[in-house]
Amino acid sequence: MDIVEAICSRKSIRGYKSTPITRGTLKEILGIATRAPSSDNAQAWEITVVTGEVLDNIRWGNVEMLTSGAVPNPDFALGRLEGVYRQRQVELAVQLFQLMGITREDRDKRAQWRQRGFRFFDAPAAIILSADSSLSDSRILLDVGLITQTICLAALNYDLGTCIGVQGVQYPEVVRKFTGIPKSKRIIVSIAIGYPDWDFPANKLESKREPVESITTWCGFE
Ligand SMILES: Cc1cc2nc3c(=O)[nH]c(=O)nc-3n(C[C@H](O)[C@H](O)[C@H](O)COP(=O)(O)O)c2cc1C
Repeated sequence: MDIVEAICSRKSIRGYKSTPITRGTLKEILGIATRAPSSDNAQAWEITVVTGEVLDNIRWGNVEMLTSGAVPNPDFALGRLEGVYRQRQVELAVQLFQLMGITREDRDKRAQWRQRGFRFFDAPAAIILSADSSLSDSRILLDVGLITQTICLAALNYDLGTCIGVQGVQYPEVVRKFTGIPKSKRIIVSIAIGYPDWDFPANKLESKREPVESITTWCGFE
């Protein structure tokens, strides 16, 4: 697949077929994605791939925490958005809810939708990115960010869709319990991965972007 086509066709997939992904395919994707650059080539990432019963246990552990009202306690909190960033967040939610036929007043459906994120969108596999606690926040976030996008792009070559998700790792104690990731590693983000169900309404979403001219400053050009 052409690189521009890959970058432009990647989108968050929030509905998957139940078809399993082989370990071999996932290994190939990770082999490609670990070519991602990292500061000082430190490769400040560690990868845990989950499927089957382990993934189901994490899904339902997350949902149990969520529905019991447990306060999320992520190793890395993204923080609340304000101003234009909040506007973009709301716009995304409006687009998703419209596609899914969820009205503002329908608290039940909204809660069910939220749970889906904590269930890794029912994907057949998930990739959890973690990093050693001895590393600085900036090194971790840059390196893990780069490999995360690279995994998502490499997955396209195998007709697989992905959705990067912080929801799945909001309760790191649940992830630790079923994967054995030790406390000495910080759990950063997850990637749901699977064959897209193109009939799933949310997968039709075309997320918006600011035009280049409104976010770019050109220096030294004629
Ligand atoms: C760090 C990060 C965390 C994300 N967490 C979630 C999440 O928890 N739930 C979700 O539905 N989407 C999540 N997303 C997906 C974004 O909403 C999505 O990338 C954005 O809306 C742009 O849409 P696109 O990926 O389809 O281009 C996350 C993306 C990133 C980069």
